[in-house]
Amino acid sequence: MKKILFYDAKQYDKDSFNSVNKNYEIVYAEAKLSAQTAVLAKGFDVVCAFVNDTIDKETIDILYNSGIKLIAMRCAGYSNVDFQAAYKKINVVRVPAYSPHAVAEHAMALLLSLNRKIHKAYNRTREFNFNIAGLTGIDLYGKTAGVIGTGKIGRAFIDICKGFGMNVIAYDPYPSADSGLEYVTLDRLFAESDIISLHCPLTEQNKRMLNADAFSKMKKGVFIVNSSRGALIDSVALLDALNNGTVRGAGLDVYEEEGDFFFEDFSNTIIKDDVLALLISKPNVLLTSHQAFLTEEALRGIATTTLENIDAFFNGGDLANEVCYRCDSKKVDDCRKNKHGRCF
Ligand code: NAI
Repeated sequence: MKKILFYDAKQYDKDSFNSVNKNYEIVYAEAKLSAQTAVLAKGFDVVCAFVNDTIDKETIDILYNSGIKLIAMRCAGYSNVDFQAAYKKINVVRVPAYSPHAVAEHAMALLLSLNRKIHKAYNRTREFNFNIAGLTGIDLYGKTAGVIGTGKIGRAFIDICKGFGMNVIAYDPYPSADSGLEYVTLDRLFAESDIISLHCPLTEQNKRMLNADAFSKMKKGVFIVNSSRGALIDSVALLDALNNGTVRGAGLDVYEEEGDFFFEDFSNTIIKDDVLALLISKPNVLLTSHQAFLTEEALRGIATTTLENIDAFFNGGDLANEVCYRCDSKKVDDCRKNKHGRCF
């Protein structure tokens, strides 16, 4: 039986993977994958990794020298993988879609809670304080949502916005021709949106795309929602924009330096990240710990697709969910997978 070392395992991972696994011996490790922990993979065939593992060149070289053939990412995003280092050494597969609705619904949950101050109301009524002063929100009906990235999650979010009677404008460098969406330039999206929601992957090109310059172009009182990747936002510039009233509220499921904190309990510690502490301290910032994917349906989908990806790898067939640095170019001929089923 092939052996999988599963990094950064939580109970919900064990439950979902154990419920669908038939073909593999899975060993669950609490440690995150990094150059320090990659040595644990000696004797395994596959490592299963997640969003905040550090899969840089050093980690990849150690995994490769330990005999690892496949890195199975149990997530959609892969900005934490050095694909150039992995190329021709270790194949990398991912779960491109499990439940885009899980993430889109969480993004809307953040927006609704922020706007109607549900987090504050919850605390008040628990203390039998039934005063509603200071809880005023705005109607979302008729407002303009600017959606950045119109892939699976962006489109699911757009459908929800339309259900609320909102106008939607979108930005995507690869617009979807038959979507009927109104694509605009980023500057126009910044200028016209009452709500801006990020649904694009993190790349070298769009790192900190919401920076001081971008905030300066936005409507006063805009809501920002980020359920994609933390580094899409310059957090210090966001703090300034919150302080000067440009941003009315920020719903964040991700944070640039989340790898040091998210998924762990720091409630007995002094957090040594002042930017994170300042963000959390603001009543108009709602921060969740990268949990947008966390629904029963999504967990089952992640486990099923991850194990199917591993099956496909060992069966020698096409690897539909493989990724390499050439896949990103969108030029069909650039990646070998398009003609030969695998990136290498
Ligand atoms: P997708 O691949 O279906 O769509 C991404 C879209 O973004 C594509 O249309 C692409 O053309 C567009 N895009 C690429 N570069 C862009 C740029 N610079 N500006 C604007 N748009 C750009 O991906 P999907 O499934 O919709 O996921 C989107 C992102 O959501 C993922 O990359 C990941 O970072 C994040 N995510 C977060 C989760 C969470 O639990 N918080 C869970 C799953 C995904």
